[in-house]
Amino acid sequence: MSASSGAFDANRADFTVGVIGAGAMGQGIVQVSLQGGMNVVLFDAKDGSAAAGREQVIKRLERLVEKGKLTADAVAAMADKVSVAGSLADFSGCHTVVEAIFENLEVKQQVFSELENHVSDNCLLTSNTSSLPIGSIARVCKKPERVAGFHFFNPVPLMRLVEVIRGPGTEEWVMDGLCALGERMGRTPVKVKDAPGFLVNFGGRAFTTEGLAVVHEGVATPAQVDAVMRDCGHFRMGPFQLMDLTGIDVNYPVSQIVHQQYSYDPRLRTVPLHKALYDAGRFGRKTGIGHFRYDEKGQEIDTPSPDHETTAAPAVQVYCAGPASELSDLLAGVSLDETDDGSSPIVAALFGEDCSTFASRMGIDHRRLVAIDVTGDTSKRVTIMSAPGASTEALNAVSAALQKNGRKVTAIADSAGFIGQRIRGMVGNLGCEMAQIQIADPDSIDLAMKLGLNYPLGPLEIIADLGVERAFAIMAAMHAVSGDDRYRPSVWLRRRAQLGLDIKTPN
Ligand code: NAI
Repeated sequence: MSASSGAFDANRADFTVGVIGAGAMGQGIVQVSLQGGMNVVLFDAKDGSAAAGREQVIKRLERLVEKGKLTADAVAAMADKVSVAGSLADFSGCHTVVEAIFENLEVKQQVFSELENHVSDNCLLTSNTSSLPIGSIARVCKKPERVAGFHFFNPVPLMRLVEVIRGPGTEEWVMDGLCALGERMGRTPVKVKDAPGFLVNFGGRAFTTEGLAVVHEGVATPAQVDAVMRDCGHFRMGPFQLMDLTGIDVNYPVSQIVHQQYSYDPRLRTVPLHKALYDAGRFGRKTGIGHFRYDEKGQEIDTPSPDHETTAAPAVQVYCAGPASELSDLLAGVSLDETDDGSSPIVAALFGEDCSTFASRMGIDHRRLVAIDVTGDTSKRVTIMSAPGASTEALNAVSAALQKNGRKVTAIADSAGFIGQRIRGMVGNLGCEMAQIQIADPDSIDLAMKLGLNYPLGPLEIIADLGVERAFAIMAAMHAVSGDDRYRPSVWLRRRAQLGLDIKTPN
């Protein structure tokens, strides 16, 4: 007999969650289940681990009493609701089981096969795996229709997102049931396709690998990239700070796996520096050194300034190659001429093009050209760049004029798309690709990336912020200038730009 939707009610008073694995994730899942008013059965293969895990969870709940977030009575009631299982046979009364054991397919398959002998027909079986296909776990089950991914983020009680992953045979009532259960646990569920890296671990590749690509090409330093992404992109951390925080021992292998599993799509490619740090054991904060250096307290030390310093006199007159409207505010007080006097600096707002391509296309003097990135938030910091062989005089004069108007300046080497357009463009373009290949619907993509990675905007919102046509123009120009398919615009973006549509318009 097949299980059915009518038999599953995530809000029943006696709902019981079985958790297998009492490690970091298992404990977090136990905690949010208890806070959702459910009964929990916890099992771990290692003797004493489940009992120790249970104690840890109760201690954490007691800390919430100290902070005034829970009452002592509530915690005592929760403690009564969590029991330690001696074996999987104790899971017979569970309505849903969440597996959170080591990331090893064979071991997970064994656990799921055995579990099916003990649970009821209507019990949902889920895995918290972060990288194994749900289909590869479900294939050993007699009822793959009730198997799904239930992917929480670390630390579970603080991270609201849970990805509900549809395996090849998962029925819709199972997806809906898990969404309801996730909500009861106080999470925000998002339905996701069973694909490499699922949603967040796939979508998150663009931010870090494009930051790495900028540094790899000698365009800017890690500190410059981070400063631009914080000040102009509103990311809480730059890609290099983020890699050092999560640990290069984690993000390098994930980058490799996702790149490989997407058939080596160049959009997901990382650079040799990433592997070099991994090989050298320079994992970031935890080892005291990664992209940056850290003291014993974990504070960054010796990080070079991202700011361009100059004592030059600010430019008073420049030739503006292209429309002046986007530059008039940044260069207030500077005369923006429409003709070239042959000696003043030349300024231009570029979109996806580098200085060299622009100068040769326009037939202007590349030595006096200073390109300015007008995308993103330019109220605190502005990125400028110049061509190889450019005059430092022009660069310093334009930089001083921008500084006089209250902005910090980051000066970088010639690059199609500066820093901000490259990284925001790549994040947005990968978001478009996720929509195109139906990883999730557009709203879910934005929501998941904001909740799972603390992005200030979702990828499709970044495209809308840049402007759909402009975002497409940036990607198309970066693709043309670099000749690298890494930058090829997603067809999702191309079509919406061509037709003048909102970026979230469905197919
Ligand atoms: P962990 O190493 O902290 O805990 C794993 C626990 O599983 C250990 O207590 C171990 O004794 C137990 N275990 C191993 N084999 C078992 C078996 N056959 N039966 C019962 N218990 C068994 O691991 P962690 O970090 O909690 O990860 C668990 C799962 O969650 C993995 O699949 C991981 O990929 C996934 N995940 C981890 C995240 C993280 O940031 N740590 C984030 C999201 C998912």
